[in-house]
Amino acid sequence: MRTQVGIIGAGPAGLMLAHLLHRAGIESVVLENRSRDYVEKRVRAGVLEHPTVELLRETGLAERLDAQGLPHHGFALRFDGVDHRVALTELTGREITVYGQQEVVKDLIAARLAAGLALEFEVTGVSVHDLDSDRPRIAYTDSSGAARTLECDIIAGCDGFHGICRPAVADALTVFERVYPFAWLGVLAQTPPSHEELIYCYHDRGFALHSMRSPEVTRLYLQVPPDEPIERWPDDRIWEELGTRLAADGFTLTSGPIMEKGVTPMRSFVAEPMRHGRLFLAGDAAHIVPPTGAKGMNLAIADVRVLAAGAAAYFSTGRTELLDAYSDTCLRRVWRAEHFSWWMTSMLHRDPAGDPFDQRLQLSQLRYTAASRAALTSLAENYVGLPFDAPS
Ligand code: FAD
Ligand code: DHB
Repeated sequence: MRTQVGIIGAGPAGLMLAHLLHRAGIESVVLENRSRDYVEKRVRAGVLEHPTVELLRETGLAERLDAQGLPHHGFALRFDGVDHRVALTELTGREITVYGQQEVVKDLIAARLAAGLALEFEVTGVSVHDLDSDRPRIAYTDSSGAARTLECDIIAGCDGFHGICRPAVADALTVFERVYPFAWLGVLAQTPPSHEELIYCYHDRGFALHSMRSPEVTRLYLQVPPDEPIERWPDDRIWEELGTRLAADGFTLTSGPIMEKGVTPMRSFVAEPMRHGRLFLAGDAAHIVPPTGAKGMNLAIADVRVLAAGAAAYFSTGRTELLDAYSDTCLRRVWRAEHFSWWMTSMLHRDPAGDPFDQRLQLSQLRYTAASRAALTSLAENYVGLPFDAPS
């Protein structure tokens, strides 16, 4: 089998890349090791930056997003039991949209299958070969058990943090990493949000986040120790802890049945460069941010926008300048998001090894951020997403 771009992974990066390539008249095949049902149900990100939403609109993917997505014009920073609003739209003229990552994934899969384009689920044993040649190959076993080889011009490694693409070129990469001494316990609850906006809450007992998915479904997160067994968190304990951390005058947390819960480790990670020969890494395969600040999926989409433009130039004219610049172009935005996510994480979480000096610094940073229009504007412009072509 032969294609122009072989894409490994059907997360937001791989599926969006396939969509952008199709619009540019470039053929691709997407290979995913999980089932369609699994990837469509995997609960993860929920906040879409302004530039991400614009791109989904421009490329014909926003019908459900426009009907069901929740535009947000601000969020609350809550500390000492008091809310300080970050007025995103007033400060930047832009907004964010709350719309589940799995809904974006469903929309992308539906568009791909409706167009009759190649997307294979439940493949196994994926490996990449001849990356330094102009005919790189992907070997895999398809869902019927047949061994296959896919010859490509380019391979896109969009297989997430635990995929096989980055390890395949590990010797050529430099890794930058920070692991945090805490994790997030995330829950999805069948109960209306307790507040119309997101709440990022700093508390002596640790960070808490109030978010949502719809007028009927709330998404909540709690800072917990790393590798915390989920069994230690029966539903009653989760609601009690959320109630304690999120307590504020005039605020009542509405509890309800918990439909889903899980613990996510937190790390900052960048592998450079994001290309080796004909293999291009995109999204979580190349970099991870801690979730505070909601940048991961948005970065994945930003990467493949650059990759699709480079591929379009290459396949239409043979010119490689944009593909050659791919890694440097992406890494500028990646490091801006790395800094922002690290900063939000450091300001809002309780470091178990921290001392009262650290806590005074955090509170000072929170008070200054909440009181200064300059600081609020900086937070807001990063949060809503810097324009794709902005210098950074
Ligand atoms: P993935 O979504 O991980 O997709 C990779 C795909 O490759 C998967 O489908 C996987 O099954 C497949 N795959 C893996 N290995 C192989 C293989 N060997 N062969 C074939 N296929 C393979 N980001 C935000 O922007 N906003 C948020 O609000 C936000 N909140 C988050 C909250 C939580 C709790 C978590 C865990 C993450 C959050 N993120 C957020 C991050 C976001 O979910 C990720 O950054 C995003 O999924 C990255 O997309 P991706 O396509 O690069 O990788
Ligand atoms: C959500 C996740 C985040 O990481 C964040 O910063 C805000 C909201 C969410 O899942 O809704």
